Amino acid sequence: MKEQLEALLNDALAEFAKASTEAELQDLRVKYLGKKGLVTTSMKGLGALSPEERPAMGQVVNTVKAKLEEVLETRGAEVREASKAVRLAAEKVDVTLPGRRRPLGSKHPITLVTEEICSIFGALGFAVAEGPEVEHDFYNFEALNFPKDHPARDMQDTFFVGDNVLLRTHTSPVQIRTMLKQQPPVRIIAPGTVYRCDSDATHSPMFHQIEGLMVDKGITFGDLKGILTLFINQLFGKDIGVRLRPSFFPFTEPSAEVDIACVICRGKGCRVCKETGWLEILGAGMVDPAVYGHVGYDAEQYTGFAFGMGIERIAMLKYGIADMRLLFENDLRFLKQF
Ligand code: FA5
Ligand code: MG
Repeated sequence: MKEQLEALLNDALAEFAKASTEAELQDLRVKYLGKKGLVTTSMKGLGALSPEERPAMGQVVNTVKAKLEEVLETRGAEVREASKAVRLAAEKVDVTLPGRRRPLGSKHPITLVTEEICSIFGALGFAVAEGPEVEHDFYNFEALNFPKDHPARDMQDTFFVGDNVLLRTHTSPVQIRTMLKQQPPVRIIAPGTVYRCDSDATHSPMFHQIEGLMVDKGITFGDLKGILTLFINQLFGKDIGVRLRPSFFPFTEPSAEVDIACVICRGKGCRVCKETGWLEILGAGMVDPAVYGHVGYDAEQYTGFAFGMGIERIAMLKYGIADMRLLFENDLRFLKQF
């Protein structure tokens, strides 16, 4: 019986050594030390021995049992350690890896140009003003000295919303709204969306303008020219050519259109500037005294100038965009370049 028990011990130790999971060890515990386990069965066999043999064999059985319990304990700890190491290796995070990038949008070129223009005029003391896109005829035309049936209204093909209500055709109504709210000195710029029934490679039915207005005592055409030249030099560079051409707007007198030397051919003449070497970027002039009459300013005391520019045109020149419609198609291949 002693040999049997020693063989049993050796088998058990070999099996314990091979077990690699807690579940396997648990099965082995049942197999050897469980209620119907091999060691327990051997204990029962003690009853068949003579009273003289029994104590010695009992001791052997107990030693075997104690040995198995001890080894199970240490193997259990080893197996738990090993599986913990495997789990930690699997869960390891390399904190030195670069983070995942979130896809970031970028600003639309119209927004970029608007912000740049506002910041140039902001530095010159111009505050930003706003007005509604659905506008009364009074602010868009009447108060700007476009009387009803005046042929100058045809210069801007208008979308009408109702009787005397329209989509503003320019940002100039913000001049009127501002002057009705405050007395001089006035120094504002007004960026915004405007609408005209007009559509081709250089005209869009919805486009953007920035209006400027400065009114105070003693403002002259020299101030207009100085501020606009400074602005153009900041936006397009110091050595860009600038010229003023006589023009007409009902709400300014005298009026001018401002050209810059063609940014594509630098004044030599090309398709973009229609061989003239110049590109029109804005309209401007001294505020017509008739406008002061509509807003209650004293035309004897105050003078001022106003200007209005198309933002799309400026964006096209700044970024070399050949077709205005690209600005509105929202093609990501185009927008990602800014
Ligand atoms: C005006 O709209 C005047 N309100 C400008 C002004 C303001 C003059 C203050 C004097 C004093 P005009 O219609 O020329 O002017 O338009 C001004 C600019 O808007 C043009 O130079 C051009 O750059 C842009 N523009 C005009 N029509 C369109 C269009 N359909 N699509 C895109 N840009 C346009
Ligand atoms: Mg024009």
